[in-house]
Amino acid sequence: MISEKMGKALNEQLKWELYSGYLYLSMATYFKDRGLDGFARWMEVQALEELSHAMKFYSYLNERGFKVDLQPIDGPPTTWDSPVAVFEHVLEHEQHVTKRIHDLVDLAIEERDHGTNNFLQWFVGEQVEEEASAAEVLNKVKLVQDGGGLYLLDRELGQRLFNVPPDVTILNTGAK
Ligand code: FEO
Repeated sequence: MISEKMGKALNEQLKWELYSGYLYLSMATYFKDRGLDGFARWMEVQALEELSHAMKFYSYLNERGFKVDLQPIDGPPTTWDSPVAVFEHVLEHEQHVTKRIHDLVDLAIEERDHGTNNFLQWFVGEQVEEEASAAEVLNKVKLVQDGGGLYLLDRELGQRLFNVPPDVTILNTGAK
């Protein structure tokens, strides 16, 4: 069993994950409306990921015998000033979600609820990825907005491979 307080906090996070999906679907719609199907696709996949996060909370609460109590979900914004503004919002939103997950971990530790702490650790790792991927796209969109040349050059430089010259030993394996 989990405590009433822990269950309610996880139930609230379930709502936040659903809201995240709603937010990203709204962003997908914003891009669709501008003919930017690639951006829209990225957001649609992001929305599906959020739904899968919500389902993790849903399943965990059921597993622990806590009755899920679905809450009303706020309507997301429907427009932004620019693609950069959209991705600034994504990064800001993910940073907020990270804080929420960390608060949940703090509560689990405070309650010595090791099962819930263990469950939440997946989300701790996931949030590191979520923030990194939002920051990466935001940076690329900014580079493109600044003329696109730097973005193209960055892609080219990123192709560089290290070819080991035949007469150079990098690792000494100790083998004779
Ligand atoms: Fe479920 Fe993007 O955090």
